[in-house]
Formats: sequence, structure tokens, C-alpha cells
Amino acid sequence: MCTRTGIVLDALGVRFRTGPGTEVVAVDDITRQIPDHHFVSIVGPSGCGKSTLLAVVAGLQKATHGTVTIDGRRVVGPDRAVGLVFQEDSTLPWKNVFDNVRFAMQIAGMGRAEQNERATETIELVGLRGFEKAFPAELSGGMRQRVALARTLALRPSVVLMDEPFAALDQQTRLLLGAEVVRIWRQTHQTVLFVTHDISEAILLSQQVWVMSYRPGRIIDVVDVDLPQDRDASIVSTPEFNRLQNRVWRSVQAESMRGFASESRVPR
Ligand SMILES: Nc1ncnc2c1ncn2[C@@H]1O[C@H](COP(=O)(O)OP(=O)(O)OP(=O)(O)O)[C@@H](O)[C@H]1O
Ligand SMILES: [Mg+2]
Repeated sequence: MCTRTGIVLDALGVRFRTGPGTEVVAVDDITRQIPDHHFVSIVGPSGCGKSTLLAVVAGLQKATHGTVTIDGRRVVGPDRAVGLVFQEDSTLPWKNVFDNVRFAMQIAGMGRAEQNERATETIELVGLRGFEKAFPAELSGGMRQRVALARTLALRPSVVLMDEPFAALDQQTRLLLGAEVVRIWRQTHQTVLFVTHDISEAILLSQQVWVMSYRPGRIIDVVDVDLPQDRDASIVSTPEFNRLQNRVWRSVQAESMRGFASESRVPR
């Protein structure tokens, strides 16, 4: 049964014109639903359309076919109920951690007392208490991404979209931050759509992993992650985790080879 809560993608398609008579089909006929409070990751080869799909859900990119609805409302542009976290370091270097977290609330026109209250609470949530007065240059890359996450979460969005937020970090920091995201999500229970290249990260974080194909970008496999919800980074060394990793890897591998072959083809 299809309820209209959460994120609903209905026959979604995005094509880009790349020249006279040529186009790239970045997203092709995707119909799927992410129920409220669910955490779904998308994995797939480079260039398969993951960021494009996320941008459409965020209202930053128009679909050429089909629709996206969030909690029953059709997405026609950016919405305050939808929070975004990207790979790029988006902290403002001239503002300290507290003011970086307050910034989006200021723009949203929230009262000063509420800004302060929410900033304090969210800084605690992402594990940055004690660093309120620090400037981004004094923080590690992982801590700067925590600031970006706090800034988004402080607005209390019902949906959070993340596009490779930890891709620039080393594997260890990435897994630890991933486990933090799971802990935070268990408290906030937003609906999350998370894009990553990293299969272990996708399994560690999600309840379900979608595998996307290389051009045209379709969802070719859906894997339910039947691991305990209170997992931490140590779960990556368990046999159950390995089994899921192999399962997703088998789906991604063939597509990655196809994408690689297509992108390394020399035009004649
Ligand atoms: N504005 C645009 N104009 C033309 N083509 C585009 C545009 N944006 C994306 N594309 C093309 O659409 C396809 C999907 O791109 P997208 O960035 O969504 O892939 P991705 O899966 O996020 O890749 P990566 O893993 O490298 O981030 C690519 O072939 C890309 O070149
Ligand atoms: Mg991308």
C-alpha cells in the first residue's frame, strides 16, 4: 500500500541536453517511497545520477518526467522542511562554531533566544560541546562536517538529504562519524536520503540501500539492512555486515565496470 507520507518518487526522470539532438538520461523512471523516519542510502558508480536525484528531491533541479512529493506536498522548489548536507566544507571561516550553527536560523528569521537555545542543544547533539568559540580553521575536517550537520539539524527539518558528506575524510573518521549520524538519527528520527560511493558506509548507516545503475540511472537493486538499530562502527567486522557488503558489492560491481568502460572509451 502506498501511503503519501515520507518521500515519494513517482516515475521520476531527468534528462540533460548535451548538444543538438543528444542528451544524458541521468535519472530514468524511478518509482519508490521512503517511509517517514526511514534512513535510505543510494550507492552507484560515478556519474550514475545520484546527485541529480538528490537535487530533484531538494527542489534544486527540475524533473523532466514524474514527480516528487514529501509528506504529500509536491516538491516545486527548496523547502525549509528539507535540510541539506553536502561534501564541500560549507562552514563560514569568519564565524565561530556557535555563530556558524546560528547562521541558518538567523537567515530564517528566528528570534535570538530560540537561535541560542537550539544552537546550544544541536552543538551538544553532534558532540561539539566545548568548541562553541572555536573557528573552523581550528577544527579537523570531521569536526567541520559536524558543524555543517548541526547547522542543518538546528532548523529541525523533517527530511535530511546528504550528498557524500564525509567523502573528503579518511576512512576511520568517516566510519566514526557515520556511527555518530546513526546515533543522532535514533534521537531525531528524520527521514534521511544519503548518497555515498562507500558501500560499508551505506550499510552502517541505513535501513535500506538502493543500488543505482549507470546510465540510464535506475534503481536496480534494493537491499534491506537487517542489522540492529543501535549499531556502532564495530559492526563492520561482523559476518552479518560482510554478507550484506558482498550482496551490495555484487550489484554495484557490474555497473561500475560498465560506467568505467563507457567513460574511458576514446571517441573516434
Ligand atoms: N547540469 C547538467 N548538465 C548536463 N549534464 C549533467 C548535469 N548535471 C549532471 N549531468 C550529467 O548527469 C549524469 C549524472 O550526474 P550526477 O552528478 O548526478 O552523478 P553522480 O552519481 O552524483 O556522480 P558522482 O558519484 O561522481 O558524484 C552525469 O553523466 C553528468 O555528467
Ligand atoms: Mg554526485
